[in-house]
Order: sequence, then structure tokens, then C-alpha cells
Amino acid sequence: MYTKVRKSLEGLFVRNSSNQIHIINHQDSNINHYNRTLQKTIDFVTAHFRNTTQPFSGVRPDSLQSVVNAVDFSTPSSNIDELLAEVKSIYSQHAIAFHLPKYIAHLNCPVVTPTLAAEVIISALNSSMDTWDQSAGGTLMEMKLIDWTCDQLHLGATADGVFTSGGTQSNLMALLMARDHYINRTLLYNVKMQGLPDEAKRFRVFCSEKSHFSIKKACSILGLGEHAVVCVPVGNRFKMNTKELKRMIEKEVSQGNIPIAIVATAGTTDFGSIDPLIELGEMAQQYGAWFHVDAAYGCGLMLSDNHRYKLNGIEYANSVTVDYHKSFFQPVSSSALLVKDRDTLRLMCYHADYLNPVEQEKDGYPNQVNKTIQTTRRFDALKLWFTMRLMGKDILGEYIDQIIFTAKQTAHLIDKDPDFELLNQPEISTLLFRYNPYKAEGAALNALNQFIRKKLMDSGKALVASTKVNNEVYLKFTLLNPVTTTKDISTILELIKNIGNEYASNN
Ligand SMILES: Cc1ncc(COP(=O)(O)O)c(C=O)c1O
Repeated sequence: MYTKVRKSLEGLFVRNSSNQIHIINHQDSNINHYNRTLQKTIDFVTAHFRNTTQPFSGVRPDSLQSVVNAVDFSTPSSNIDELLAEVKSIYSQHAIAFHLPKYIAHLNCPVVTPTLAAEVIISALNSSMDTWDQSAGGTLMEMKLIDWTCDQLHLGATADGVFTSGGTQSNLMALLMARDHYINRTLLYNVKMQGLPDEAKRFRVFCSEKSHFSIKKACSILGLGEHAVVCVPVGNRFKMNTKELKRMIEKEVSQGNIPIAIVATAGTTDFGSIDPLIELGEMAQQYGAWFHVDAAYGCGLMLSDNHRYKLNGIEYANSVTVDYHKSFFQPVSSSALLVKDRDTLRLMCYHADYLNPVEQEKDGYPNQVNKTIQTTRRFDALKLWFTMRLMGKDILGEYIDQIIFTAKQTAHLIDKDPDFELLNQPEISTLLFRYNPYKAEGAALNALNQFIRKKLMDSGKALVASTKVNNEVYLKFTLLNPVTTTKDISTILELIKNIGNEYASNN
């Protein structure tokens, strides 16, 4: 009787130990399993890069849906080969190939090999960057990269920062600090404990009408409401018009509202335009407002001796967003928020006995969780570490120079062709233009350019983006690949013309 009960209990609790082969640990069987699986996966990725020749397959969601529906999670693949075949059929053969020269649509850069080597380590060792006791040396490596970036931007001796999941999070944290800094310092009110004071309804954040939508999103999340965001018109070269800014601040102040922050964009999403940082920094000081610079895109300029000057004035910033995954050839995610005064990051600090008790601060343990709204956080900094150590800043800077050079050449090609209308000269590497050989206007011209973008995407031969400026549709090139040449651009312009002419002959 006793033996029978014991056996049935064992049946309940003792699993087949061969199933534990999937857990990566010190045992030979498990290590060999890891090694074989990873080798096959690397071969798979290698074949992917070798065989992918155009940026997109042109697949439509309806044709993939049935394949996805057929996957049954209750019957696992029998081996990695079978799984990789499945992943290829649903995903990788249709993945947008950011690395190919004719992908020039959005702010996605090709990635460099050192960073991919780091990825292998990051997931396998799986450090979490919240506390020293979960990451140890990783914490110091992240801190050193943050210090290096702050130095490049001349943010000063008290600067600090932290890696984040992306520009959206960095902008959110920056505006959280702007909000709480004002509340704590000027209203002497504890926002952490008491929530928002009544005055918060009158807070205003000024940014250009071309700033990224994450600024509005942040203000809405922070309880200030979208109405707190005052969008200032752009003037020359799509940069914030500082005269208008001054007028709008004065107007808001005269109505009893409070300018808590000015947000400059160093590299707007559509135009790559850089707001006048020096002037804006000075104005922020004059009005006692927090100065945030969203350099999610423009941060790559710090790498180039030839173009670094375009960021002059960034040193005035109280906070800066940098997206290494846009302009440092890093894979998603790799981003940071930097601050001029490390104490302002404490606005995000909470202590938990299980994680980062107050006593640990006295013992001198650096806990990065004290600086961010995240808790568990990937060691994304290792990717940048690999890149800086195996390539160094100068090679990255050459890539940036090459991209900006190609963007200028592209503008020249478009500008001299009477069939195209160029909207902006690139300040970094983004251009807006439209195809208009028939001198059409309004809806007809919009329809033509919308058709071109979609048809080009369906063909998969090249990927370009589109956007609207004053309700007019423009095609958009975002150049982030140093391998893209003017020959590639000429081919894409030819494809655009062919599609445009086909549309015209049918309409
Ligand atoms: C200027 C700017 N800021 C912020 C963001 C948001 O960055 P992320 O997509 O990394 O959240 C973007 C994204 O394109 C951007 O262009």
C-alpha cells in the first residue's frame, strides 16, 4: 500500500530528466545541446543574409495568416531544423531587410557584427541591470558607456544617465523629471507621495510641430494631458521658429500657465532638422524651464568630426534622448536617457527591501534601478561595448559621414530632375520629395505618390516611406546605411518613375 502511494506521488513530481536538457547549465549534455542549437541557428541566419536579395518579399497578411493559424503550441516541433523551417516560412523570408541598400524607409539602421556577437552573450548570461547583485561588472560597463556618451555631448562632470528601451521611454522619463523637478523645487510639493498638485493643469511643454509624437504621449501618460503640449511652428529648414516660441511662451504666461519645459529635437523624424539648440537652451534658462533635447535620431552626429558641430548647444540640456538603435548601428533595443545633473535621476528612485534597500546605498553598491522607471532590464549596453571595443568611434563616424554624403548626392539627383519636387535639403540623412511629372495638384498628386509607395512595397524591390506635410503626401527617404550608393538611389528613382507612369496611364 505504502509503496503504491509513494510511486504514484513520484509519478506526480518526478519529470523525465531528459526534458531538462533544455535548461542551459554546466552539464555536458545541456551544454552540447546549447552549442548544437546555436550553431544551427547561426547557420540559419548566415544563409538568410546570403540569400536575401531584396528588402521585402511583398507578402500580405492574409496569405500568412493560415500558416500561423496552423501552428499548434500543444505539439512542439521535434527538432530545431523543423522549427527553423517554420520560422523561415512565417517570418524570416518575409522580414524587412534593413541591411539591404534599397531599404531606405524608416529610422532603422543596419547593425554591425560586433553587436550581434554581444547579443549571444546577453541572452545566455541573462544579467538584469537593476541591481549590482544581478549584474555586477555589467553595471560598471553600462555606467562607463553612459559617461562616455555624456562626455561626447559635453554635459559636464555631474552628468549621468541610464540605458532605456527606446526614445519613447527616454522622452517619457525626461518629461517626468521636468514635471517633478518643477513641482518639487518651485511648489515645494511631494509629487511622489501626493500626486499632482492643482497647478499641474497649467503646466506647458513647448516643442516644435515636427517633434516626435512620443512627447504628446508622455504628457498624456504623466497626467498633464495633451493640451499641455504647445506645438511651435517651424520656420527655415523645418526648425523650430524661436520668435514664435517666445511669443507663445509669453502668451501662455500671460494666461497664467507655467512653461515647465522646452523640448528641442536634434533630428526630426520626417526632416532630420535640428532645432536651434543654443538659442533654445538660452531661452529655457531665461524662463527657468527644463531643457530636453530629443536626439534619438541626431545622436549619431556626435561620432563624426565633420558633423559634430550640428549638435552645438546640446550641452545646455538638462536631459538628452539618444537612440543607439537609430544612429549607432545597434539592434533594437539600445537607447539611453542622459541628464546634466545626476541628482535629478533620483526623482525616479524607489527602494524595495527585497531588491535595493536603502542600506545598500551607504555600502556604495551602484544599483541602476534607482535611475529608471524599469526594474528588470536587459544588458543592452554590452552591444555598444562590443561595438566601441572592436570598431571604435572613428569607424562609426566614417559611416555617418558616408550616409550624410549620400543624402546630399541624393538631394542633388532629385533636385535636378524636373519630374521630382524636392521639399528639403537634408541636414542629416532624410529627404522628402514627390513625383510630379504631370504637374498635378491636390488629391490627384497625393494619390499618385501614395500609389507609388504601396506598389514599391508590394514589389519588395525597394522600401521607401511616405508622410504628409500640410496634408500633401510626400515620399520619404531615410538613409542610414553607409553601403547604400547613389547608384542604388538612381535605381530606386527609376522604379518610382516606372510605377508612377504605369499609374498615370491607367488613370
Ligand atoms: C525624434 C524621435 N524621437 C523619439 C522616437 C521614438 O523612439 P523609439 O521608437 O526608439 O521609441 C523617434 C522614433 O522614430 C524619433 O524619430
